[in-house]
Order: sequence, then C-alpha cells, then structure tokens
Amino acid sequence: MSSPVSYELVDDIGVVTIDNPPVNALSQAVRQGIHDAIQVARSDASKAILILCEGRTFIAGADIREFGQRPQEPYLPDLCTEIENSTKLVVAAMHGTALGGGFEVALGCHYRCALPTARVGLPEVKLGLLPGAGGTQRTPRLAGAMAALDLITSGNPVDAGRAASLGLVDHLVEGDLREGALDWCRELVAKGASRRKTSELHVETISDGVLADYRAKLAKRARGQVAPQKIIECIEAAMMLPFPDGMAAEREKFMECMQSPQSAAMRHLFFAEREATKVSDLPADTVLRNVDKVGVIGAGTMGGGIAMNFANAGMQVTLLEVSDEALSNGLQTIDHNYMGGIKRGKLTEAEALERRGRITGTTNYATLADADLVVEAVFESLDLKQDIFAELDSVCKQGAILATNTSYQDVDRIAAVTRRPKDVIGLHFFSPAHIMKLLEVVRAEKTADDVLATCMGLAKKIGKTPVVSGVCYGFIGNRMLGHYGREAQLCVIEGAAPEAVDTAMEQWGMAMGPLAVFDLAGLDVGYKARQGLPEDKRGDPRAFRVADALVEMGRCGQKTGAGFYRYDPETRQRSSDPDVQQLIASAADDLDIERREIDSSEIVDRLIFALANEGMNILAEGIAQRPGDIDVVYVYGYGFPAFRGGPMHYADAVGLDDVLQRVQEFQQRFGSENWTPAPLLEQLVADKMTLSEWAKSRRSK
Ligand code: CAA
Repeated sequence: MSSPVSYELVDDIGVVTIDNPPVNALSQAVRQGIHDAIQVARSDASKAILILCEGRTFIAGADIREFGQRPQEPYLPDLCTEIENSTKLVVAAMHGTALGGGFEVALGCHYRCALPTARVGLPEVKLGLLPGAGGTQRTPRLAGAMAALDLITSGNPVDAGRAASLGLVDHLVEGDLREGALDWCRELVAKGASRRKTSELHVETISDGVLADYRAKLAKRARGQVAPQKIIECIEAAMMLPFPDGMAAEREKFMECMQSPQSAAMRHLFFAEREATKVSDLPADTVLRNVDKVGVIGAGTMGGGIAMNFANAGMQVTLLEVSDEALSNGLQTIDHNYMGGIKRGKLTEAEALERRGRITGTTNYATLADADLVVEAVFESLDLKQDIFAELDSVCKQGAILATNTSYQDVDRIAAVTRRPKDVIGLHFFSPAHIMKLLEVVRAEKTADDVLATCMGLAKKIGKTPVVSGVCYGFIGNRMLGHYGREAQLCVIEGAAPEAVDTAMEQWGMAMGPLAVFDLAGLDVGYKARQGLPEDKRGDPRAFRVADALVEMGRCGQKTGAGFYRYDPETRQRSSDPDVQQLIASAADDLDIERREIDSSEIVDRLIFALANEGMNILAEGIAQRPGDIDVVYVYGYGFPAFRGGPMHYADAVGLDDVLQRVQEFQQRFGSENWTPAPLLEQLVADKMTLSEWAKSRRSK
C-alpha cells in the first residue's frame, strides 16, 4: 500500500505532503510517513521543511477510529517533539480545519502559516479528552495561559486571523497556499530565521485567583465533565513546570481521559451523529431535488425560527399567515431575533439585514406556487393540517416537497389528503428552531426516496443534525419523552418534591430537570395534546393529574409566572411553591397513593430506563434506524448529557442485564402497564449481546 505521505525537494525546500482523505486524519501510516520524511530531510539538500496537506483540509486530528486500540508507533507526542528538534527549519501551512493532533503537529513546527479561511483549534474536550501531544503545553507558550484555557476548554476553533492575533499563526497567505508557503519558507531561510522551538518559550501566566475562578465557572458550564478540569490542571502544569514535566503531566491526564467512560460516550456520539445522516436503504445514486425557494406556513415561534434557518442558509423564504396582524407579529419576532444576534456579536448588522431581506410575508397561498419546499408549522390539529395540505396540493407546483413540522400527528394521514403523498414528509424542528441542532426527518409510508435524500442534505445545509424517524405517535423523541415524563410525574405524586426530581436529574447531567422543562415548554401544550386523544390513549391518569390541575388553575408554566414552580418575573429564577406541595398532597390523597421518600438513584433509574426501554421498542419496530440515532435525538434535542452518550449508549454502558433487572423490579413494584421489559432488551440479554454489537451485526447484513 502506498504511503499517504510524500516527500519531494522543491529547489531547496523539502515538501512533506499528506494525502489521507477525507480529512487527513493522523493514522499510523500518516505519522510514520511524516517521521520518514523528516528523517530523509535530515541529510538531503533541503534548507527548510514545509508540511502541508492535499484535499479539503490540513490534518483534522488524530484518527478517532484508532482510539481504544493499542497505540502504535510512532506516537504523536514523540512525532511533534521530533519535528521541533529537527535540525532543519520546519513550517506548517494550514488550510481548512487544523484540529486536535493536526494542530499539535503544527505547534511542533517552528513557524505556522495559513490561508485566511483556515480554522485552527483543539476540540478534544468535545470527545471527553484533552490534547495529548503537547497542545496544553505549547499553546500557552505561544498565546498565554488565558487564551489557551479558552481555546482548549471550549474546544471551539478560531479563524486564522484570530489565531494570528493570539500568536498561534505567524503568517497569512493570500492566494495559492503551496506557492505562498514556499515563498515564505524561502524568505525565512534567506533572513536566517532561527528554529524557534515552542517548548523553549516563556509562558504568560495568570494568577492563582484567576485560575480558581476559571475552575469554578467551568465546573458550572461543563457540569459533571472530567476533561475540562483536567485541562486546567495541564495549563497549570505548563505555568509551573519545565516543559518535559508538563508533557508528562499532560500524558498522564490524557490517558486517564482516554480510558474514561465519558470519552467513550462522546466518541460514540461523534460517529453516531455522522452515521445518523445516512439512510441505509437509499440508493447512493438518488438524484436530489433543487431547493432554492421555501415557503413556511405559520409565523409563530416555530414557523419564524424555521424561516430564519432557511434564510440564514441563503434561501428565499415566503412566510404565510392567515391575517396581516399575525404576519406582522411574526415578522417582528424575527426582527427581534436578528437584533439579538447582532447584540450578542453573532452577526454583523449587514449580515442580519441580508438574511432578514430573504424573508417576505404573505397571506395568500397562491404566492407559494413556485416554492420548492413548503414547511407547515401551525398548531397541533390534524384537521387544520389536513386542510392546509389539501390547499398546498392545489397551489404548489409539481415536484415541490410538502413538509409538516408536526410533533405528534400521523404524517401518513396528512399525506393522504394530497394527490402526491410521495412528496410529503415530516420535518420536526425543535424549539427554538433557529438554534437547536436536531431535526427529526419523518419518513412517511409513501415518502419518495429523493424527497428523503433531499431533506437529509438540506438539513446539513441549514446546520442541523438530521435523524430519520418512522411514523408513530411522537416519533422517536416525544414518544420516548412520554415515558420519561410519566415517571417524573409519578415520582412527584408518590412523594418526591418537584425540585427533588429536577435536582436528581440535573446532578446526573440533564441540562434541565423534566418538570422545569414542562414549565418552560408550557404545561398547556401537553394538556391540549391529551385532550385531543381518546381517554384510553392518554396514559396513566395518575401521572398527569397534577399537571392538569395546574393548567386548570391558570398555571401553565414560565409564561404565566407559575407552573410546578413559581418564577421571578425579572430573572425567571424558579422557586418551590408551598401551594403546589399542597396540591400534590391532596391529589395523592384522592388517588389513594401513600407518599414515601424516593431517593435520587430511584428517580434517575426510573426516568432513564423508561427512556431506554421504550428506545428498544422503537428499534424493534424500525422507527429508528439504529441505537446511535436515538442517542443523537436525545443529546441534541432533549438536553441529555453528551458525556453519558445518550440513553441507548448509557444502557449499554450500565450493562443490559442490569437494566433488564431494574426494569423487571419496577414492573413488580409499579405494574406491567407502565413497565414491561422491551422484547428486544430481553432478547439481547438472553443472547449476551450489547446494543452496539447488535447494531454492528445489522450494519454488516
Ligand atoms: N478521525 C477519523 N475520522 C474522522 C475524523 C477523525 N479525526 N474526523 C472526521 N472523520 C471522518 C468522519 O467520521 C466522516 O466519515 P464518514 O464520511 O465515513 O461519515 C468523514 O471524516 C467526514 O467528516 P465530516 O462529515 O465531519 O466532514 P465535515 O466536512 O462536516 O467536517 C471536520 C470536517 C471539521 C474535520 C469534522 O469532521 C471534525 O470536527 N472532525 C473531528 C476533529 C477532531 O475532533 N479532531 C481531534 C481528534 S482528537 C485528537 O486529535 C487527540 C489527540 O490530541 C491525540
């Protein structure tokens, strides 16, 4: 097999070129190739060495697929040191995204140049890791300890201009990178530039007090995560210790992170997110439909957010409302959101104007005649949605994709009112739609392959992570949420205070406890959804007894200032409410429920295993393609902690036999109506198979 790294002399510059598509990851072969090239350059006529990459990007990191396997020589930290110790001047030339181990290779070089469009960063923390090849020791030496902390604990890349201002990039190349970088190398040689070893530079330190504040802030921002705190320790080591000792400290902490369940969970998510974009049975040669013009029906919070997504991605959007007043309110909210973007420094005024300029309003369906895609986002009424789709069927051009943003309704029944059910699909956005990354793409019975493929591609264009779901009540996310929410509310009526339930889940890692989420979303939403269902489909009446009573008292959650909690009108801070405690106690009395102490481990297990058990049913029914897809839904749509990998990965990590045992225990204690072990869970335990092994076996079929 030929090496992904080549070496040639261009006049007196030794050029090392890495060509390892798709992202030039640092596989063993790439590390070996760079090592070999440096060795050759030692004794040839080169006066300097230039490292650059073919394809779309500079090295985008270590090869994540090699993680968890036995490391193979040459090791990356040694390679970076070898580069730094080279007797010839070494320069990195970066384009695309120079990330993780890739950026660490560049930090090992004596100088760095980049295209202005390049982005550099150390995103390891997003994989539950820290930079393990000198990144935590060299970055503070170039950019100072404070900038290094920000860069490495956030994991967010910075553009080349910013990197230059931080001292991480020395020279920006306009035009052709290879030619520009070669010229710059010649210039450095001509002026006798020294081999500037990053490891020998002085660190611009910060005080103990600043470090302690940073630690405390991060403990809040990255609650429950191990890697960010270890990164701080590494930066502290960079400030206090000689370089080799700092490297040893970094290595030790890197290995601890690599072996942690948190990193395994986050690496699982990295691949799950990418796999979720693939639809296993779609022919690879499916021709996509063109989508330039988008119609959005309904200018409420959801519709407005959806419109912004498409406008932000460069598409023309027509927003339709029934009245001028509703339309103007909707457009005002959009203006307000764009203004907020400017204020927070996310957008320039010109960018905001350009994006806003792509959205026009209408009250006339005929205006949607030339739309390539229409997304309906009106409130949850099947009759209303069916009326709208019948109307769309009569006005929209042939080939237009007709999508519904419903959270619960049957997409097949919506499609059935049109003469083109193959063009109908569900696009379930999450609120706030212009911010949340998840998009459930609901494949109805008759949805055409090219409609599905187009929507999956479109999701990427608008910056979403798509997951395909089949049709069922609530699709993947809300169907599972029903079980999670039921257990949360049952815990409350059985004896746990709302704050005990929320605190248990927040301490476990959920972004927000379930009852606080209900208050945020509006308790009336679930109330109305239940009213729309026949009584035998509403679920356990004990579970929503309190929520229904709260709505009937006018306590719909944050928007009315009170729900399960009371909210400060200024700060929106929640506080417990004795009235609610009383309401819960009297509801429990009415239902003959003897209240008891419930500890946090029972709360967590009931809520999380309710999710995982229903996830198993969803997999068995083929509603979700793979366990990883469910994990992506929960992490990106429901505030599930990434460091636990999603409910399905978590069940695997706990051990399916333990999960089954606990589900069986709950079945005995609470009854089979709410707790019946999923047949797939039982089968996997009987077969001694993990969920990930099951997914792998299906992939290879
Ligand atoms: N290792 C292995 N495979 C990788 C990879 C990596 N570091 N980065 C990306 N890939 C793969 C993806 O899995 C995907 O594969 P499939 O096509 O089979 O799904 C393919 O490359 C393309 O990736 P994307 O779809 O993400 O492409 P994109 O253009 O949207 O984004 C990117 C490109 C910004 C580089 C993005 O892939 C990314 O962020 N990659 C991860 C970067 C990273 O985390 N690097 C640090 C690694 S850890 C490290 O380096 C530790 C250390 O210090 C030793």
